[in-house]
Amino acid sequence: MKRFLILPALMLALASCTVSEKKNTPAYLDPSVSLEQRVEDVLARMTMEEKVAMTHAQSKFSSPGVPRLGIPEVWHTDGPHGVRPEVLWDKWSQAGWTNDSSTAFPALSALAASWDRDLALLFGRSIGEEARYRKKNILLGPGVNMGRTPLNGRTFEYMGEDPYLASQMVVPYVRGVQENGVAACVKHFAMNNQEVRRTQTNSNVDDRTLYEIYLPAFKAAVTEGDAWAIMGSYNLYNGQYNCHNKRLLCDILKGEWGFDGVVVSDWGGCRNDDEPVTNGLDIEMGTGTNGLTSGGNPYDHYHLANPYLERLRDGRASVEGLDDKARRILRTIFRTSMSAEPHYGSFASPEHYAAARKIAAESTVLLKNDGLLPLQIPAGGKLLVVGENAYKMQTVGGGSSNLKTKYEIIPLQALHEAFDGKARVEWERGYVGDTSTSYDRVETGQDLSESRDAATLIADAVTAAADADLILFIGGLNKGFNQDNEGTDRTQIELPYGQEEVIRALAGTGKPLVAVNISGSPVAMPWADVAGAIVQGWYGGTESGHALVDVLTGAVNPSGKLPFTVPCRLEDGPIRTERQYPGIQVEGKPYWEEYYDEGIYIGYRWYDTKGIPVQFPFGYGLSYTTFSYSDAKVAKAVVKGAGTTAVTEATGSGKPLQTVSVKVTNTGSVAGAEVIQLYVADPDATVDRPAKELKGFQKVFLQPGESRTVRFTLDRAALSWFDAAQHAWVAEPGSFQVLLGSSSADIRASASFELR
Ligand code: BGC
Repeated sequence: MKRFLILPALMLALASCTVSEKKNTPAYLDPSVSLEQRVEDVLARMTMEEKVAMTHAQSKFSSPGVPRLGIPEVWHTDGPHGVRPEVLWDKWSQAGWTNDSSTAFPALSALAASWDRDLALLFGRSIGEEARYRKKNILLGPGVNMGRTPLNGRTFEYMGEDPYLASQMVVPYVRGVQENGVAACVKHFAMNNQEVRRTQTNSNVDDRTLYEIYLPAFKAAVTEGDAWAIMGSYNLYNGQYNCHNKRLLCDILKGEWGFDGVVVSDWGGCRNDDEPVTNGLDIEMGTGTNGLTSGGNPYDHYHLANPYLERLRDGRASVEGLDDKARRILRTIFRTSMSAEPHYGSFASPEHYAAARKIAAESTVLLKNDGLLPLQIPAGGKLLVVGENAYKMQTVGGGSSNLKTKYEIIPLQALHEAFDGKARVEWERGYVGDTSTSYDRVETGQDLSESRDAATLIADAVTAAADADLILFIGGLNKGFNQDNEGTDRTQIELPYGQEEVIRALAGTGKPLVAVNISGSPVAMPWADVAGAIVQGWYGGTESGHALVDVLTGAVNPSGKLPFTVPCRLEDGPIRTERQYPGIQVEGKPYWEEYYDEGIYIGYRWYDTKGIPVQFPFGYGLSYTTFSYSDAKVAKAVVKGAGTTAVTEATGSGKPLQTVSVKVTNTGSVAGAEVIQLYVADPDATVDRPAKELKGFQKVFLQPGESRTVRFTLDRAALSWFDAAQHAWVAEPGSFQVLLGSSSADIRASASFELR
């Protein structure tokens, strides 16, 4: 009986829907119909309940489609470095599938260290193919929060300390992912710059700092990369949680930048019933899913589930608001799983392993070399490798970017392969760091237990060094608690676990010593003098060992440059008070307050402007060859174009005002790549501006003796600062300096011009 009542009602509802010219095909199923028409067609067929269902999760990583209409559900997946394993329906633990071991790509701080836009595209394309193959709609990454404090536990998931570098790298990554019909979900919007009390801290940031430092990479991802999804962050800004923060989501993201995609909450980041309705959140994920144990369907209790329905029914929430959310979600589905273009993807392929290896090798940074690298071990000689990171697998752990990869090449294995039949490679642990070998039920299968105490471990390493030709120390951080890890910050900027003592003891043997630091964030090296060579390695993923050893042996000439400053001491940096970090309690406030008193002066902007020496500057990295810079020129001594630019103008759309060129020559005897960095200084500014700011870079590969003239263009945006009073970008008339260099501290050529 009931069936007969439902049918006419359904037919009535369908009357307002469009039918495609193709006989009997609803418009939304016809890929030749425009995306917006398909969206409107589905919307007209949907009930209020169906629309609301789409706005919140139905499992740990999925949210509903419209089953009645054959609209598939939306599958989300971490993360920025690889597609995470399938998890149980309502748990973080992996489900134990046997066909979901993905390629682990390098961490994003490594990608940023490549300073190579083509590699960012390759990364995005490759991970997008993996996500597509696994039938995911939304990839939860990349992350572009700025490196405000070097202690931030998630620095490894972000792209460094400079908004221009991060903007340039995020755009190709996003495009590469989305070519595959997978939405990149750029995270964590915004100012999620620490893990300590990340869900309870209110960021107090002035507008100039917000627009100059913390927003540009997100803006570029949206206005240049056309990102289809954005993830709100856990913290608060202006006293409002960022997953439903009106200013960030409605005024800036969807208003000023015209974002037409979907805003996804961070998992558990949606915090009340009212704000998510009106303040720009489209899909609520991860709220209190502690297992399907509470009876009924816990997802019905999401803020955007039953409480939202009640508000719609009694008029406290508007249908227009609901339609806006539904439209954005449908748009995401038509851009991805129901896209007009077919996408099939590929998974854990030789091509992806090769891409991961290339990116990891090209991002490796040579910090010091007194001639010990590339490694030369006499035939039949002995290479003593010391340190936990030569052995420990690093793809497992760290939080939501935890991966299950088919295999991971550890450095020790790659060294054995490289020196097989040529020299002996022996390993000593040297210290005990993190002995964990599993995360969310992904197991590395390694045994990291250790019975020796610290003194014995050092003594054993020193003894083993007696007949070694060279000592290669491979240490650093890991993805454990208080290291490079989601949910905790680091507690010190120096090496943990007594590694400095190990390094000094090894140096005391008088043997040549090469040190490799594997980390995703800056590590101060007060011991740098005692090592003959130092390499910054990263979490390189599946092929990390091969990539590192490619550089150590000279098979790849290093060309990575630091995406952040490595300070001498934490106290040298701009964050000096508790109110700046990790925040303070203010009476009467339910959350902690944090004040960005340092303003725009983070990273090299701080050190350069204040003249504080650093250990390794932003943009720094050596090569096995050398480069000279000459003939720096600006095309025009005077350019016209001073004035203001509206915040609504898309990033990257500015008219070029000035062309700068410089000749770069490979003056050494091996082929190699140099990253030529262009910084702008505005000495005539009427406001405080940093001593210099990165506004261009190019990576060029040169044969020995080869020269290339590299050209950059500057638009008004490159010369501007953000004027909060006018809420616009201002390029002031006066003289500008263009500084071209090999790092922020190594300026090799310069030119100046006047802006009128
Ligand atoms: C993290 C996000 C991640 C999400 C889903 C959250 O805890 O902050 O970056 O994408 O979990 O795993």
